[in-house]
Amino acid sequence: GDGVYKFYSDGEWRKSSSGKSVPIINPTTRKTHFKVQACSQEEVNKIIETAKIAQKSWAKIPLWKRAELLHKAAAILKEHKAPIAECLVKEIAKPAKDAVTEVVRSGDLVSYCAEEGVRILGEGKFLVSDSFPGNERTKYCLTSKIPLGVVLAIPPFNYPVNLAVSKIAPALIAGNSLVLKPPTQGAVAALHMIHCFHLAGFPKGLISCVTGKGSEIGDFLTMHPGVNCISFTGGDTGIAISKKAGMIPLQMELGGKDACIILEDADLDLVAANIVKGGFSYSGQRCTAVKVVLVMDSVADVLVEKVKAKVVKLTVGPPEDDCDITPVVTESSANFIEGLVMDAKHKGATFCQEYKREGNLIWPLLLDNVRPDMRIAWEEPFGPVLPVIRINCVEEGIHHCNASNFGLQGCVFTKDINKAILISDAMETGTVQINAAPARGPDHFPFQGLKDSGIGSQGITNSINMMTKVKSTVINLP
Ligand code: G3P
Repeated sequence: GDGVYKFYSDGEWRKSSSGKSVPIINPTTRKTHFKVQACSQEEVNKIIETAKIAQKSWAKIPLWKRAELLHKAAAILKEHKAPIAECLVKEIAKPAKDAVTEVVRSGDLVSYCAEEGVRILGEGKFLVSDSFPGNERTKYCLTSKIPLGVVLAIPPFNYPVNLAVSKIAPALIAGNSLVLKPPTQGAVAALHMIHCFHLAGFPKGLISCVTGKGSEIGDFLTMHPGVNCISFTGGDTGIAISKKAGMIPLQMELGGKDACIILEDADLDLVAANIVKGGFSYSGQRCTAVKVVLVMDSVADVLVEKVKAKVVKLTVGPPEDDCDITPVVTESSANFIEGLVMDAKHKGATFCQEYKREGNLIWPLLLDNVRPDMRIAWEEPFGPVLPVIRINCVEEGIHHCNASNFGLQGCVFTKDINKAILISDAMETGTVQINAAPARGPDHFPFQGLKDSGIGSQGITNSINMMTKVKSTVINLP
C-alpha cells in the first residue's frame, strides 16, 4: 500500500482517518525507515470504548482459558522472533543478537505470567469476624482479586517488545483489556508483536494498539476517563503523567542513575567485567545501566586500567553486524550525551579514550576523576559514557548514591557479605545487587524505583497483583 503500517483496533488493522503518518527514523542511516498511522483522538475514543466492552466478557472467560491463549501467543511470538528482531535492529539499532534475545525473553515472560496468574488468581481469602474486639463469629468474609478494567500500557523505546508484554500479559491474565501505545521508535516491532496476539485468537477489541504523535494523543490517552490503570516505563514524561492522571493505579518506572560501589577487597576482574557489561550493553540505553562508578581510591588505578582494557575490545558500528556499541536512538539523544561529555571536559575530567562521534554513533567513553560539580555525576546520559568518581570511604559512595533524585538500582562489590548487606540497607534504591551489575531480570523478581525512579513495583507477580483490586463478599449469619 502506501507503506504506512496500520494500527490495531477492534480486532482489525486500520488506516487512520487523519490521513497522517509518523515517520520512524533508523538511528543508523538517519533516514525514514518505516511509517505508522497518526491516530486521532476520535480513534482513541473508539478504541477505549471497545476495550471497555470486550473486558466485560473477557473477565467471565475461565482463568485457565485465558492462560491457554497467553501460552499460545507466547509460542507464536517466539516463532516470529526473526522478523520482530529485524524491526528492533532497524528502529532502535539494537544489536542483532540482543534483539532476538528480547523477543525470546518476551515469549518466556508471557508463559510465566500465564502460569503465575492461574496460581495467584486462583486463590482468595476467607476471614472470620471474631478476631476483632467486640465481634461474634457471625461474619464470614470472602475475598478475591478482580480486574481493574482497561489498562493503558506505554513502554519505552529501549524494550518496545519486552516492556510491552511485561504490561500486556499481567493485564490480560487478570481479566483486564489492554490498550498499547508503543514508543515511536519501536512501534513497528510492537505492531508485529501485537499481530502474534491477534493470531493467537484473543477476542475482538480486547487488545488494541494505537500509534501516533504524543502531542496529539499522549495526554488524551493518559487522561482518558475510560482508562482504569496506567503502566508506564520511560523518562520524565512519567512524572507529568502521574500529575495529570485520574484516581487510578499507576505503575511507573522512570530513569535511574545506578551507582556501582567498589570496596578495596573486591574481585577487580569481576568488577571490570560487570562495569563494561552493565555500563555499555545496548550502548548504555538501559534504565538499569551502571551510570556512575564509585571506587575506593586505593584500587581505582588498577580498576580503571582493567576497564580500559575491556572497553578497547568493544566493537563499534551498525547493529546489523551485532556490534557492541551501536548508534544511540535519536540525534537529539546523541546531542544531549555530547553536552554531558563537553561539560565534563571543561570541568577537567580525565578522558580514558578519545571522544568520538559519527552521526548518532558515539564511541564508548570512560571518564575518570569525575567530581560532583560535573553534570555527568548526576544526570543520566542514556548512552555509552560512564563516569568514575574516586572515593576515600564507603560512606562517601553511599552518600553520592543517596544524594541522587533517582533510586532505581545500585550495586556493591566486596567479598565481605556482612558489609555488603549493611551497604545494601543504606542505599536508597529499589534493588541492590551484590557482586553483579544492576538488572531487571529474571523477570519474576520484583522491580521498583524509589524517589524519581518510579512508583509501584513490577516483576510478573507484582504486576498481576497491581492490575487487580480486592473484592469482598461478607456473609452475615443470624
Ligand atoms: O531500561 C529498561 C529497564 O527495565 C532495564 O531492563 O533487563 O536491561 O535490566 P534490563
